[in-house]
Amino acid sequence: MMKGAKETLTAILLGAGNRGMTVYGEYALKYPEKLKFLAVAEPIKIRREKFAQLHEIPPNKCFISWEDLLQEEKLAETAFICTQDQMHIKPTIKALEIGYNVLLEKPMAHTLEGCIKIVKKVEETGRILGISHVLRYTNFFSTIKDTIQKGLLGNLVNISHRENVSWYHMAHSFVRGNWRNVRTSSPMILAKCCHDLDLLFWMVGALPKKISSFGSLIHFNSANAPKNAPKYCVEGCPIEDNCLYYAPRIYIDIIPIIQILEKSEKKGFRFLANLRKNHIRFLTGLSKLVKLLHRLRYWREWPVEPLYSGLPEESAEDYSDDTKMKILKTSPYGRCVYRCDNDVVDHQVVNIEFENKVTVNLTMHGFSEREGRTLRIDGTKATLIGEFSDAGQKITLFDHFSGTEKVIFSQQLFLDSSGHGGGDFSLIDAFLETLVGKRKSQPLTNANETLESHLLSFAAEDSRLKGKVIEMQEFRMKAQK
Ligand SMILES: NC(=O)c1ccc[n+]([C@@H]2O[C@H](COP(=O)([O-])OP(=O)(O)OC[C@H]3O[C@@H](n4cnc5c(N)ncnc54)[C@H](O)[C@@H]3O)[C@@H](O)[C@H]2O)c1
Repeated sequence: MMKGAKETLTAILLGAGNRGMTVYGEYALKYPEKLKFLAVAEPIKIRREKFAQLHEIPPNKCFISWEDLLQEEKLAETAFICTQDQMHIKPTIKALEIGYNVLLEKPMAHTLEGCIKIVKKVEETGRILGISHVLRYTNFFSTIKDTIQKGLLGNLVNISHRENVSWYHMAHSFVRGNWRNVRTSSPMILAKCCHDLDLLFWMVGALPKKISSFGSLIHFNSANAPKNAPKYCVEGCPIEDNCLYYAPRIYIDIIPIIQILEKSEKKGFRFLANLRKNHIRFLTGLSKLVKLLHRLRYWREWPVEPLYSGLPEESAEDYSDDTKMKILKTSPYGRCVYRCDNDVVDHQVVNIEFENKVTVNLTMHGFSEREGRTLRIDGTKATLIGEFSDAGQKITLFDHFSGTEKVIFSQQLFLDSSGHGGGDFSLIDAFLETLVGKRKSQPLTNANETLESHLLSFAAEDSRLKGKVIEMQEFRMKAQK
């Protein structure tokens, strides 16, 4: 650990992809006094080199794979593990064995056995492990947790929680993208809803007792493919003018981003949306003069960024319409959404009864007009209604006795680097504090808490596939054997 006026934590990064580069990497660049990366492992050359350049990492500390980096002696205090879902277990166990404290991306592991192995390794080594359940660290969800803990709702009775995945996020990540197939990723109830199940477990504050779940892939399958639709949208699809999911609409016209801006309460954002949508030539001219307008015209951030993953260097910094069009001819993101190799569900419901008799239902679906979570909590004294979406955040408390309603939290749309409603950076802050303070207490989202919330995901999937109610105590015991 480097010493200074404030202690700067040293770290290694495994996987310089979206999370590694743009969340943890960006945090270290913004707060160099708090975090410094000393080594990186990343097989994609352009990402590895970019990360090394940004963080001034010498060539002998740049590695092609996590195995190579973890063959070295311990190089820093902590390891940030940001590889894909199925590459969490081995690097985490190895890093803990070497003596790193670890911040691991969610899900902790794609299998229950993997989660248990990690928990045991944490106990055996006594190292600190944090899981990136970032939503617990947002002002929105911590306000809800506080409200419950202060007793303002009375005794909890029921929570109705929705994970409304937007139509564009569903198509991008769970039909065309990285989390589309259970064999290469994990079930959607783990990949997407481990956050929600973790929040529900945390808010209720008791162990789950029974769980049941239903769901399927209702829309994104070949039965719904338009007649004569080619494999790639840009190969002359007969319905390209009317298809919601036509790839150039999403990645070149950036309709998802425009829709987010259009829903904002801020006039400025709505103005930008109109400029991008209806005055593209004018915007193209202005973009030469104004950096913000250049960003809007030649959009490179999500959902565009993953399109460029692993491309040859010459196209890597070119975000023109022509280059994007060329990429979409062969990219997985250019495929017809009805002709992909996806098998994860596009809608699922989960019912849970907890040991304290609180009931919860979670609905997840991929057809929302906007991205976000909505929830309603009914207690014996009050009702809480919350919206946490990409158009803004708001929590309203309705008190039964006084008959009053009060907005206890609200925040408008913001487009900054600390994603997940501020949760990304708050999670890193909290994780670093546990290490720098040498408190050696496990963080809020630690291995044991995560195991319990991940058990819910695995049990929900078991219930959905087998069509039966799962008794959690039995499920828990079986998993631990
Ligand atoms: N906390 C959250 O809210 C949140 C949000 C999105 C994604 N995630 C999780 O974060 C993880 C990473 O997601 P992402 O979107 O950054 O994915 P990504 O594909 O952009 O990044 C993963 C990176 O790992 C690299 N990699 C592959 N093999 C490697 C190896 N052998 N050694 C080192 N690196 C290797 C890939 O080349 C890639 O750059 C996933 O588990 C994902 O589920 C979490």
